[in-house]
Amino acid sequence: MSILVKNGRVVTAVDDYEADVYIEGEQVNMIGKNLPVTADRVIDASGKLVIPGGIDPHTHFDMPFGGTTSADDFETGTRAAAIGGTTTIIDFAIQARGASTMEALDLWHTKASGKASIDYSFHMIVTDMHDERLPEMTRLVEEGVTSYKMFMAYPGVLYADDGTIFRAMRQAGRDGAVMCMHAENGIVIDEIIKEAIKLGHTEPRYHALTRPTRMEAEGVHRAIAIAEVAGVSVYIVHLSCADALDEVRRARDRGVTAYAETCPQYLFLDQSYYDKPNFEGAKYVMTPALREKWNQDELWKGLRFGDLQAVSTDHCPFCFKGQKELGKSDFRKIPNGAPGVENRMTLVYNGGVAQGRISLNKFVELTSTAAAKTFGMFPRKGTIAVGSDADIVVFDPNRREVISVNNPRTHNMRVDYNSYEGMETLGHADYVLSRGRILVDEAGWQGKAGSGQFVKRARHGELLRAVAPVTVP
Ligand code: URP
Ligand code: ZN
Ligand code: ZN
Repeated sequence: MSILVKNGRVVTAVDDYEADVYIEGEQVNMIGKNLPVTADRVIDASGKLVIPGGIDPHTHFDMPFGGTTSADDFETGTRAAAIGGTTTIIDFAIQARGASTMEALDLWHTKASGKASIDYSFHMIVTDMHDERLPEMTRLVEEGVTSYKMFMAYPGVLYADDGTIFRAMRQAGRDGAVMCMHAENGIVIDEIIKEAIKLGHTEPRYHALTRPTRMEAEGVHRAIAIAEVAGVSVYIVHLSCADALDEVRRARDRGVTAYAETCPQYLFLDQSYYDKPNFEGAKYVMTPALREKWNQDELWKGLRFGDLQAVSTDHCPFCFKGQKELGKSDFRKIPNGAPGVENRMTLVYNGGVAQGRISLNKFVELTSTAAAKTFGMFPRKGTIAVGSDADIVVFDPNRREVISVNNPRTHNMRVDYNSYEGMETLGHADYVLSRGRILVDEAGWQGKAGSGQFVKRARHGELLRAVAPVTVP
């Protein structure tokens, strides 16, 4: 199958020019003006942006959490992601405490395979790491799982103490892997929560009031300091506030390899959402919590000037009915997490480019290229170049939509609310291609469950080349 994407404005993290893109099989084969080729399918991209498919390096599909399971599985989640212009996700496999990480990897392969319609990879959540298990970490890297996540939050559930974190970081550093960190001081936060409960404070708003930004900043500071001594590249996930961003900035200024992502919820939503009536604040119970609104400008500045490298979603959806309601009488029982994988590209374009905060190149870097580079998928993914996977989005910068759970063009996630309900946006994916297969076109969804492949990622800093040789027509 060959596809010619004609007359579009090709934008990568560094390029911006008008050209045709010719795709042969799974890869980009030629790029140029008025390419003299015929193709099985021609897509007219006049007036549109032709950008690399989005990469969301932080999703939780089919994730057991808080006594229930996240509402999207790999079929519904990757379909929604694709409709929104994301063509690769990195999800999280979870090591059961005391069990093998290899078993966890097998389990997550089973969850994804046959279901995902876009390419996917896994980070491994490490909950404990005794010396005898350390060789497993090297094996994981050989299996293409070149990043981990550890938690300073959720004591008794996913939490790891500093010694465990240091041990795992040391090994990750030796193996050329990246350590992702959920950085919040969960031990202190649990004490604050106990105080709140004693006072009878059980409503959703206390989720935020018991998680001060200083405790996130402290976690970020500690995570980076431990990583610095252990000799590993560290990536702070779902950074939510200015206090935490200051810690990342300080570390980077002194030359530490520290990266950080933020998420749309921290750029567009704020702490006042917890005061919504009828328990609706529960929809926004996620960790870290939503912050005071003024933090948003600081996060946008962080993105613009490079202190924050990526925008992921931390997509972890739980339905309001039946799932969020588990915490009706006690905010501690509300499953933590919110949906967003479908809306990320539009939200970042609308809030970033359309509102003059970031350039088009920066938009591509934040939504695709940075994740590809940090997590060992570049240049196979994260750019449009000869030999790269044909993961391509034809993005209409002028398309207006109103995000709503009732709008099938903006909500295909299997969850009964949208965090951005009613938001008017500019910019939307019209066509979505994954390795040369058309997933979305003018007639809507064309993808197939099971056509996504596992991406065996390279070590941090190494390049990942295309799997098949490029053929000349
Ligand atoms: O509330 C959140 N973020 N749920 C997902 C788990 C995590 O901490 O990323
Ligand atoms: Zn987390
Ligand atoms: Zn997460």
